[in-house]
Amino acid sequence: MEMNPIVEEALQPMPVTLFFFFIAPLLFLFLLSRLRPDPPGTGQASKAIRRSVPPADGVPPHGGGVSSPDVARQVLQVQDHLFSNRPATIAIRYLTYDRADMAFAHYGPFWRQIRKVCVIKLFSRKRAESWESVRDEVDSMIRTVASSTGSTVNLGELVFALTRNITYRAAFGSSSHEGQDDFIMILQEFSKLFGAFNIADFIPWLGWADPQGLHERLAKARSSLDGFIDSIIDDHMHKHKTRCHKDSDEDQEPTTDMVDDLLAFYSEEAKVTESDDLQSAIKLTRDNIKAIIMDVMFGGTETVASAIEWAMAELMKNPEDLKKVQQELSDVVGLHRRVEESDFEKLTYLKCALKETLRLHPPIPLLLHETADHVEVAGYSIPARSRVMINAWAIGRDPNSWSDPETFKPSRFMKENVPDFKGSHFEFIPFGSGRRSCPGMQLGLYSLEMAVAHLLHCFTWELPDGMKPSELDMDDVFGLTAPRAIRLMAVPTPRLLGLVY
Ligand code: HEM
Ligand SMILES: *[C@@H]1O[C@H](CO)[C@@H](O)[C@H](O)[C@H]1NC(C)=O
Repeated sequence: MEMNPIVEEALQPMPVTLFFFFIAPLLFLFLLSRLRPDPPGTGQASKAIRRSVPPADGVPPHGGGVSSPDVARQVLQVQDHLFSNRPATIAIRYLTYDRADMAFAHYGPFWRQIRKVCVIKLFSRKRAESWESVRDEVDSMIRTVASSTGSTVNLGELVFALTRNITYRAAFGSSSHEGQDDFIMILQEFSKLFGAFNIADFIPWLGWADPQGLHERLAKARSSLDGFIDSIIDDHMHKHKTRCHKDSDEDQEPTTDMVDDLLAFYSEEAKVTESDDLQSAIKLTRDNIKAIIMDVMFGGTETVASAIEWAMAELMKNPEDLKKVQQELSDVVGLHRRVEESDFEKLTYLKCALKETLRLHPPIPLLLHETADHVEVAGYSIPARSRVMINAWAIGRDPNSWSDPETFKPSRFMKENVPDFKGSHFEFIPFGSGRRSCPGMQLGLYSLEMAVAHLLHCFTWELPDGMKPSELDMDDVFGLTAPRAIRLMAVPTPRLLGLVY
């Protein structure tokens, strides 16, 4: 098997005695880091930076967690440029073709240009196709639900399938739903490998042992992805050629997907310059294109699904708020038609409920950053290449910023001067803030609003088997994202009048 240099670098042996002195404490730290973030109340600046996870790359174990809005502002705004790298494990580096994507690229010219491509070309509101795929897939989900009225629906699985369909279609176009099952298997294996504990991340010399057979799994996962996306890229290239040969009489702009838009920057060799003209500023290879598509899949699927499911769960747990949201939908939209985008600005209570959901359940609970250089922050000295985790979950529940922080209370967002999530209020940062903040926020919010508005406008939902709202389990699973531990099940009945499904 051919080894990638990144895997290889972890392959030199080390003396066994080191294991007992170093691995055991590191393992302990690692396990600690996997527990849920700090409970509320630890938000004082004095405790804001604590030693925690040891970083990857064989750097000595420095790193810290941030759970106060003030320190988050230091890290994400004031000294942003010094905290704008991302830590990555061996698995992540290997599976992103050695940081060939946006999410794991180090802060610098390449990241800056690739981010421009994504923001201007892929995630921009101007790229109407992405927004269209949200509407089409939400419609298709509503039809699925309408066909199972009266029986229990696994809402968690349903919305995850929805967001997978949305991103799949936005990335690869509408014609290619056929390979989707294979692709989902590949994504699941990537996801497991991202989260897998690899001793070589902590002790590089111990990589040779590889007790879980990670090297082989990594190589296999990446070659499955290569096989899958290479053939999609080939199809797209072929499509371009044939289009260039004929057209002329087709004056209409052909619809494009994200692969088409990325191929506009394709070249055999990667290139970055500081040119103002994007087209000449960056050239992307196949590896770049594959890695960026994976960013979209990972950044835009589970996050949105988790937010939709949590919003539905919180509203079912709080029937008074659910009633208000549905009343607002009846008043603004009426029961004779479906919700449309132009209704959104009048759906104030719904928007507040979604904000409140993101406050209590930020889909990415810990923002992972790495220092580029030695930094001083809040009186602490942090060496270069330290991991810094910003605990968005704890910040959203900080009693110094929020009254009654553990309670789901959408009405708190009706007041004036409440923090907004656009990134300048560090009490509320579900999309992060600053250079590394979420570039897909608009698209993500649109999917979230569309999906929840449709689910609640088209159907009335009951908990199954006479379960009471207070019995609803609200535990989350803490990983890179924080979905619900137990999937939400509910029984829909139609709410609209006439044949609008
Ligand atoms: C409700 C939905 C979403 C939430 C809550 C969310 C949240 C976040 C957060 C917290 C970050 C990290 C910020 C930081 O480290 O400071 C992030 C980064 C990112 N998100 Fe999102 N996101 C969502 C939807 C999306 C969508 C729909 C896409 C793509 C279509 C996307 C693509 C990305 C990418 C590529 C990054 C990495 C950016 C970089 O490193 O420069 N996200 N997101
Ligand atoms: C997602 O797409 C698949 C394949 O087209 C379809 O069978 C499924 O019903 C869709 N799921 C949802 C929730 O829309």
